[in-house]
Amino acid sequence: MARHEVVLIPGDGIGLETSAAMQDVVAASGAQVDWVIAKAGVAVIDEFGTPLPDETIEAIKQHKVAIKGPVTTPVGTGFRSVNVALRKTLDLYVNLRPVVSIPGAGGRYDDVDLVVVRENTEDLYAGIEFEEGTEEARELIAFVDRMGKGVIREDSGVSIKPISITATRNITEFAFNYAERNGRSKVTAVHKANIMKHSDGLFLREAREVAAHHPQTAFDDKIVDAFCMNMVMDPSQFDVIVFPNLYGDIASDLAAGLVGGLGIAPGANIGRDYAVFEAVHGSAPDIAGKNLANPTAEILSAAMMLDHLGEQSAANRIRQAIRAVYAKGEFLTGDIRRTEGQAKAAASCTEFTAAVVREL
Ligand code: NAI
Repeated sequence: MARHEVVLIPGDGIGLETSAAMQDVVAASGAQVDWVIAKAGVAVIDEFGTPLPDETIEAIKQHKVAIKGPVTTPVGTGFRSVNVALRKTLDLYVNLRPVVSIPGAGGRYDDVDLVVVRENTEDLYAGIEFEEGTEEARELIAFVDRMGKGVIREDSGVSIKPISITATRNITEFAFNYAERNGRSKVTAVHKANIMKHSDGLFLREAREVAAHHPQTAFDDKIVDAFCMNMVMDPSQFDVIVFPNLYGDIASDLAAGLVGGLGIAPGANIGRDYAVFEAVHGSAPDIAGKNLANPTAEILSAAMMLDHLGEQSAANRIRQAIRAVYAKGEFLTGDIRRTEGQAKAAASCTEFTAAVVREL
């Protein structure tokens, strides 16, 4: 079996606990992974002057593959999100989030099997913002007024929503190629093209164009509000779903909620040259440091990483071990909704992890 060097950014908050759990499980899977530990987050600003040190970027560029625990982004401060910066710097233009029911994990449905493909580089997430009351905000508001594009109240903050042909083609092409490589039959594009004609309208138009070059895969589209209702009522109608950045962000938490919550939702940020795997959830400050976190999402993200490294059998062993622990229902963390026959007492992060390792 090949040895792989993988960059590990443990993150902060529950990231420290879930990353340690993930390392134990990968070791028990038989995969030969050497971890190259790299730093990011609020805690490293004093040491490096930035939450995302150059040496962390360089390590990912050197080793090509990384897995990352969640990193806290303080709300409403000048602090730049490490996640957004990482995605931009490494051009990780795809956010891939498979959502699959795990029997015993407390999901609302037993038959969810869909994939969220979220554009990762633009939209309202691009971070192009104008603070309320600043000279630049005033200039922008005056410009919009001069162009006859509508009235923005003077006391407004403004965020810009760019959606490009380039990024839309890249993400929808990825969605169709992913569907074809993984035996999936349909791609759905989600948008609000009826209202935002020049951003979401462009997204839909380009998605249709790309779909026309993939006649073997079915294609349809949904307006985002109707999509949310359809997802809650019958998620089995969806297969691969492609979104602009913000809707994809919201919809992946919604989808995670249908199968048991953020504790079990894995993900990956993928570009042409690099891939960074990470759970959907954040650093969960409310439970950090208490050994209460559910490490399933980060462990399943590691299974996606092993697939990417060509270690499918180790990845499958990990997924089976996780399913076995949920099916037995003896060691479930507190975030999981209990059903009949499952232990009511919450297992700790380390007890859950030990149960997965025993299965392996
Ligand atoms: P969150 O995902 O951290 O937490 C939301 C709720 O879900 C909390 O009640 C939390 O306890 C629970 N939860 C999340 N993951 C869990 C797990 N593995 N096991 C058990 N319970 C879990 O979202 P929130 O509170 O909005 O964000 C907290 C911080 O995380 C913020 O600073 C945010 O910016 C950051 N964040 C970082 C991400 C990343 O690094 N990829 C992604 C999302 C948020």
